[in-house]
Amino acid sequence: LEDTDFRSGLGDSSYLLYGLVKSAKPAVVVEIGSARGRSTCFIGTALKENGSGKLYAIDPHTPNLWNDEDSPDTYRTLSKNVEKFGLGPYVEIMRATSEEIAPQWQLPIDILFIDGDHSYEGVKRDWEVFSQFVQPFGCVIFHDTLWDLKPDPKYSRPDMGVPRFVDELRLMGYPAITLDRDFGVSLIQPVRRGVSLFPHQSQTESGVSAG
Ligand SMILES: C[S@@+](CC[C@H](N)C(=O)[O-])C[C@H]1O[C@@H](n2cnc3c(N)ncnc32)[C@H](O)[C@@H]1O
Repeated sequence: LEDTDFRSGLGDSSYLLYGLVKSAKPAVVVEIGSARGRSTCFIGTALKENGSGKLYAIDPHTPNLWNDEDSPDTYRTLSKNVEKFGLGPYVEIMRATSEEIAPQWQLPIDILFIDGDHSYEGVKRDWEVFSQFVQPFGCVIFHDTLWDLKPDPKYSRPDMGVPRFVDELRLMGYPAITLDRDFGVSLIQPVRRGVSLFPHQSQTESGVSAG
């Protein structure tokens, strides 16, 4: 994997995806935004090593505002990379936008990686459609969540909406951990105030009472 030039901003945070998958042994992983397949191949390799699970890799591979570089048709490169690492049985490449896949989606999701349409409306739509399928102990990962807190003039753009949306989730009570790496990677548990770790406690009662 290290020798492959995926031309991706995800950097070593791809190991976070790899590690999560190795650890959580998910049956279903969904990735929105594959491009040339850095995240796809790291997740796929972990599934292969687990010997189980499937990654649904959703990306239209057409010119849009969120292609990493100048060559927008990344389908062939992605397919070659998936083949190169022998990930065929573990990765289903879905050449479509997440909006096109949304109406037919039915499977429970263990891990959801959102790295597609980075506009506020786009990332909100992906969350609203797909997070309802994520298991309580599952995990939603967003890339590019630190663009506003740590602006880099080279990459700064007004239509980037991921930081604002993910911060709204945090303020709504969804547990959020953000790593200050590779433009920001945030892990969200898809349950407001988090899943209770104690029996007989409803989510609303789970606040720590004053002693
Ligand atoms: C930043 S790149 C993804 C990088 C990739 N995750 C990696 O690890 O290298 C963003 C990708 O999102 C895709 N994209 C844009 N809008 C999308 C949508 N509505 N649904 C799915 N993918 C979308 C683009 O085609 C582009 O390939």
